[in-house]
Amino acid sequence: MNILVVGGAGYIGSVTSQLLVEAGHHVSVFDNLSTGHRDAVPDQAQFIRGDLANQAEIDAAIKQVQPEAILHFAALIEAGESMKNPAKFYRTNVGYTLNLLDACVRFEVKKLVFSSTAAIFAASDAPISENSHIEPANCYGETKLTVERMLKWFGQIHGIRYSVLRYFNACGAYGTRGEAHTPETHLIPLTLQAAMGQRPAINIYGTDYATPDGTCIRDYIHVADLGSAHVLALNYLADHPTITCNLGNGTGYSVREVIDAALEVTGREIKVVEGPRRPGDAARLVAASDLARRELGWQPKIPSLADIVASAWQFMQK
Ligand SMILES: NC(=O)c1ccc[n+]([C@@H]2O[C@H](COP(=O)([O-])OP(=O)(O)OC[C@H]3O[C@@H](n4cnc5c(N)ncnc54)[C@H](O)[C@@H]3O)[C@@H](O)[C@H]2O)c1
Repeated sequence: MNILVVGGAGYIGSVTSQLLVEAGHHVSVFDNLSTGHRDAVPDQAQFIRGDLANQAEIDAAIKQVQPEAILHFAALIEAGESMKNPAKFYRTNVGYTLNLLDACVRFEVKKLVFSSTAAIFAASDAPISENSHIEPANCYGETKLTVERMLKWFGQIHGIRYSVLRYFNACGAYGTRGEAHTPETHLIPLTLQAAMGQRPAINIYGTDYATPDGTCIRDYIHVADLGSAHVLALNYLADHPTITCNLGNGTGYSVREVIDAALEVTGREIKVVEGPRRPGDAARLVAASDLARRELGWQPKIPSLADIVASAWQFMQK
């Protein structure tokens, strides 16, 4: 299939682009490199530098590539920043996505896969299914939920088929592609940077949550397992108008448990600094991914936290 990957130079987009190439698809990447990396784009993929903020640039890319499907990864992703600058998040995550949807309508692209997030859900002690209570704890999650709702209407009115994939915490590395955000805000790379001496310590934000060790609990899912879900979700649209599913391993790990895993994997000292809670952090988010397993035939291949941390550690040492 001829596919345009918007945001395909980023962490999850580049791994997914690589997996799409390996699955025999013809891939073009559209990215403004604001947080992505040119060298993460697979050699076999065409690279188009462009900004989704610019309607003419995304129009020209779609006209040139004539994709059968678009995968849309481009977004601002830092929940903490969204609580300081909501306008920036609405503009980028909602407004620029509207540019893309508008172009899909005009150029008759009828399949879209969208990167959504666990951050649309309220914290829960039980595994979170697609029917769990939706209540974003931060503005980032709200912008993703807004796009999900937009997609429903574009599907209904314009016949666009779409898959919404709600990732829990993406992590780990796939070969030469891994997490390299600047600034980095995610727990595993931050902890490994502390192990490497690239930062003085790892901060724990909040030790008084209603969890067994008082720190937040998340579901860590390997980036290649997310990537493989995109390949399946794209194929699914051949016979189905839409699917929305949660993607996680179904096991929750606390911040302290992740740091323990990093200590084990690296064998290095990691200084820990405990501080107060941050606004916008939910206590516990763990996925129930039964729908993806049943409907897409998805099966995470790297569920072990130790293996995930080890793959990130290998990537960071290169
Ligand atoms: N990383 C996670 O744990 C996680 C969890 C849930 C959802 N998501 C979602 O997955 C997607 C990818 O996340 P990521 O971690 O790979 O982020 P990333 O920052 O590594 O990738 C985003 C990519 O989009 C590009 N981009 C941003 N704005 C653009 C624009 N205006 N025009 C063109 N390109 C633009 C960036 O340059 C980058 O290459 C995002 O939509 C994010 O909200 C990520």
